[in-house]
Amino acid sequence: MRLTTDPEAARTACDEARARGLRVAWVPTMGALHRGHAALIDEARRRAGFVVVSIFVNPTQFGPTEDLARYPRTPAEDRALAEEHGADLIFAPEPPAMYPPGDETRVHPGATASALCGEFRPVHFEGVATVVAKLFAIAGPSIAIFGRKDYQQLRVVTRLARDLFLPVEVVGLATVREPDGLALSSRNRYLSPDDRERARAIPEGLAEATRAFEGGERRAGALSRQVRARLEEHFDSVDYVTLADADTVAPFADDAVLPERALLAVAARLGGTRLIDNVVLGEDPAPR
Ligand code: PAF
Repeated sequence: MRLTTDPEAARTACDEARARGLRVAWVPTMGALHRGHAALIDEARRRAGFVVVSIFVNPTQFGPTEDLARYPRTPAEDRALAEEHGADLIFAPEPPAMYPPGDETRVHPGATASALCGEFRPVHFEGVATVVAKLFAIAGPSIAIFGRKDYQQLRVVTRLARDLFLPVEVVGLATVREPDGLALSSRNRYLSPDDRERARAIPEGLAEATRAFEGGERRAGALSRQVRARLEEHFDSVDYVTLADADTVAPFADDAVLPERALLAVAARLGGTRLIDNVVLGEDPAPR
């Protein structure tokens, strides 16, 4: 496995792989890799002959009061995990390589980015769309693998590829969870043991709603109130509990009757830690 911090070297490595007849798969990450990332790399390995893992804590997707400075950085462990799971190349640029002096172009996503996390993190998806467009432009991967834990991000990136005619297949993989249902996240390492206990309210709430949906509950307001009540009991604050269209991420009104497939997405805070999670009702199993 090779490692480079240089966009040109990453591009050359991908070009050389294609010249050898290999399909290039890209796994974009911000590092602090865990079993969820490992599953993404495994899937990339199954689908392509050359697998690149990018590790870049992208400054443009963090707001001024967010956790950019303390975001976990574990380069040695990341390298070991990527290598163990068969990555061919790690691309780990420093910010000036991705945003050189004079850089000014940003990719502005549309309505898919405006609700849910978009309401609470106004610059977030523009930063994500911009860096993902840059990564795709550097390497020209045929396939890129994302986790469904960041469901809205997956939809934003899918739209980005479609709207800009980017020749890349965007694939979303099922969320990997702890035995008690908590979705794996690099930010889980911020949680104190007490907060980790309280965080279980998210998978419990999503599981309860999934079972209610399976039992025939289709009232958006009833489902969101049920989940919100559980989160409010355990979390310091709740950003949102939203039922939304699973493709466009457009929220349903409280009095809406849900279709057979709907996104239930949540974001809530424990101290300075913000956790997100979701299930697609009618499609995903209960998280625990
Ligand atoms: O999901 C992430 O880790 C990041 O948002 C991504 C897609 C690597 C862009 O910085």
